[in-house]
Amino acid sequence: MLVTEGRVVMISGANRGIGRAIAERLCEDGYSLSLGARDPATLSALDGGAEERVMNHAFDATVPDSAARWVAATRERFGRLDAIINNAGIINSFEIESDDETGLDEMWEVNVKGPLRLVRAAYADLKRCGTGRVINIVSLSGKRVKSAGIGGYAMSKHAAAAFNHALRHAGWKHGIRATSICPGYVATDMTATVQAIPASDMIQPAAIAHLVASLLVLPNTASVSELPVNCVLESLY
Ligand SMILES: NC(=O)c1ccc[n+]([C@@H]2O[C@H](COP(=O)([O-])OP(=O)(O)OC[C@H]3O[C@@H](n4cnc5c(N)ncnc54)[C@H](OP(=O)(O)O)[C@@H]3O)[C@@H](O)[C@H]2O)c1
Repeated sequence: MLVTEGRVVMISGANRGIGRAIAERLCEDGYSLSLGARDPATLSALDGGAEERVMNHAFDATVPDSAARWVAATRERFGRLDAIINNAGIINSFEIESDDETGLDEMWEVNVKGPLRLVRAAYADLKRCGTGRVINIVSLSGKRVKSAGIGGYAMSKHAAAAFNHALRHAGWKHGIRATSICPGYVATDMTATVQAIPASDMIQPAAIAHLVASLLVLPNTASVSELPVNCVLESLY
């Protein structure tokens, strides 16, 4: 198993929801963390007096050079970079008959190009360490399309899952391993308006954080490409 101490992990959207739970868990586990948020002021301090192992930085996936600036600042602070957790994501409504593509374009930018730009900026570092890891928080909507209204989000998340596979192929010989975690409903702000399932019956963010922590310690010889996670029974997931 890989050690945690000394390894540097970047987490996008680390101020709330799943990203926050991942930050809390990886901090407990001893990693050095570079936390990204659109507004770094929303990144409250993590428990445990780990300030010397944690840096906060701006990251807005809709700003093309934001990823490169965050990666450069992380490299400057820690001198290395071992893993990226592509967590930041949005969901916009979608109608086939609407000619307004604004919401679709925004999901492409945040859910697909954001992860690509972060990995591209960090690729040399991930290769150099020999055990680079990228975990993409995709969705079960990256595996199946449950309704018409979720169609645009599902299109972006299928693309995010495809990016994960492309990265697996490109990075394998350099020791880079990439995983798509594909959850169903997780109890965060994103699902606050969901009526069908109470939040207490949804996947809890800490459970996703636990999976991330488990994946990060696996050696190069135990690659996990996809991890579907559900709180309800579906035919395949
Ligand atoms: N909740 C679910 O049921 C569920 C299920 C499957 C997959 N997911 C995926 O899990 C990830 C985290 O979702 P969540 O449930 O934790 O959602 P959330 O509570 O709504 O948090 C979304 C995070 O993404 C950040 N973000 C939004 N737009 C951004 C941008 N342009 N640039 C950078 N960061 C941006 C938000 O920052 P601000 O605070 O600045 O808005 C926030 O930190 C997403 O990729 C989502 O698609 C969620």
